[in-house]
Amino acid sequence: MEKRTLGKSGLPVSPIALGAWAIGGWMWGGADKKDSIRAIHACLDHGITSIDTAPIYGFGHSEQVVGEAIKGSRDRYEIMTKAGMRWEGTEGEYFFTTNDNSGIHRDIYKYSGRDSLIAECEESLKRLGTDYIDLYQIHWPDQTTPIEEAMEAFRILMEQGKIRAAGVSNYSVEQMEQASGGVELSSNQVPYSMVRREIEQDVVPWCLDNNCGILAYSPLQRGLLTGKITPDYPFAPGDSRPETPHFKINNLIHTNKFLDKIRPMADEKGATLSQLVIAWTLRQLGITVALVGARTEQQVVQNAGAMNLSLSDAEVESIGRKLEKLHLNLD
Ligand SMILES: NC(=O)c1ccc[n+]([C@@H]2O[C@H](COP(=O)([O-])OP(=O)(O)OC[C@H]3O[C@@H](n4cnc5c(N)ncnc54)[C@H](OP(=O)(O)O)[C@@H]3O)[C@@H](O)[C@H]2O)c1
Repeated sequence: MEKRTLGKSGLPVSPIALGAWAIGGWMWGGADKKDSIRAIHACLDHGITSIDTAPIYGFGHSEQVVGEAIKGSRDRYEIMTKAGMRWEGTEGEYFFTTNDNSGIHRDIYKYSGRDSLIAECEESLKRLGTDYIDLYQIHWPDQTTPIEEAMEAFRILMEQGKIRAAGVSNYSVEQMEQASGGVELSSNQVPYSMVRREIEQDVVPWCLDNNCGILAYSPLQRGLLTGKITPDYPFAPGDSRPETPHFKINNLIHTNKFLDKIRPMADEKGATLSQLVIAWTLRQLGITVALVGARTEQQVVQNAGAMNLSLSDAEVESIGRKLEKLHLNLD
């Protein structure tokens, strides 16, 4: 079973990690708990040992489901969670307003105050039913709190043995520079897919130079790159995807035309489009982990198959040439 090392931390992780955002239901039109637990259990049999969650994913629900699923086999998984997105209180930087799983309005704040992060860690440990978190990440940078203060909290949590590695998410190069002054920075979790490649400009070179891992999130562009999203796709109420730029009708049509061009390569290799897309992601420079969301056992099993799919340089280049001709309007 292949493992990769996350930056300087020495933390072994699976090349594909299961993303448990959709499992929390929030912004995904709900989730079925039994399916979620089966999906998390299926990971171990198919080489996925790393699970990424966050308190905000369903306002504690995703972490609770992960905790329930890993009970009795906690040490076989690497558990990655996050802190710094708060829905109780108004400290920090206002981010957005949303409805929780019960339809209640919630104002979300980015807040990385030292004591708040330390308190959040306790809450996550409880929900996850564990006494340590393998990778703890600041979910989004908070402009109202010095990064040094957030990293001080992470240092304390590491000394206490509550977290094993410290990471960030959605941080710029400048913010990573600051963070790495205060703690050994293991990773940055950032958006990356065939149709979202901004990090190649600056985050990837910095991470390569500084031995910092990259967790590429939404590599299937929230399901779009599976090829199943047609213009009349029946999204559940509360699923936020139709409002996002990549799912706007013209982008959807252009992306599906591009997928039609690479489908024969997947077919030739006896792979699905999702597997080809994930395998491509894992071949990109600097990407340590493809952080792929899944809600069912079937999706987990299929996605895990991408770890056995090798792509030649010529195949990667051929996909790259087709991507150069894909122009989306993401304004
Ligand atoms: N740090 C951050 O700010 C941040 C932001 C976004 C995501 N993330 C992390 O990254 C993880 C992954 O990103 P993501 O969940 O946004 O998007 P993704 O991995 O690109 O897409 C996941 C979704 O695609 C569909 N899918 C997955 N495998 C499939 C398959 N084999 N066949 C058909 N459909 C399939 C599923 O949704 P349906 O079945 O509903 O179609 C699944 O929920 C998240 O769970 C989270 O852990 C982090």
